Amino acid sequence: MSGVQHHLLLCATPTKALCGDPAIGAASWNRLKQLVRELGLEEPDRPQGVVLRTKADCLRVCTGGPVLLIWPEGITYGGVTPERIERIVHQHVIGGAPIEDWIVRRTPFSRALAPD
Ligand code: FES
Repeated sequence: MSGVQHHLLLCATPTKALCGDPAIGAASWNRLKQLVRELGLEEPDRPQGVVLRTKADCLRVCTGGPVLLIWPEGITYGGVTPERIERIVHQHVIGGAPIEDWIVRRTPFSRALAPD
């Protein structure tokens, strides 16, 4: 295994009512799972590293969701939909170009933990 390229955490079953529509969260989660599989992003021998995905109940944003947090950049996207998931995976995860207009928070690693 060549390591982990990205870890995507989606607040897909929000515990706070203002976080977003759970139905859109569930549809976004399903699209994310499907895309990661279709594009071979979780193949252990992928040269760029694997892409991990986790369904979360809360990512401490709790408004304007569903929200998607991507490590190692520490970038959180708001207003996630299945269509946005598709563009985020292609443009940010594969292409390395975050989509500024949809970013609602940046939480970089502290210096001590930052990757080289
Ligand atoms: S309930 Fe979604 S981030 Fe808190």
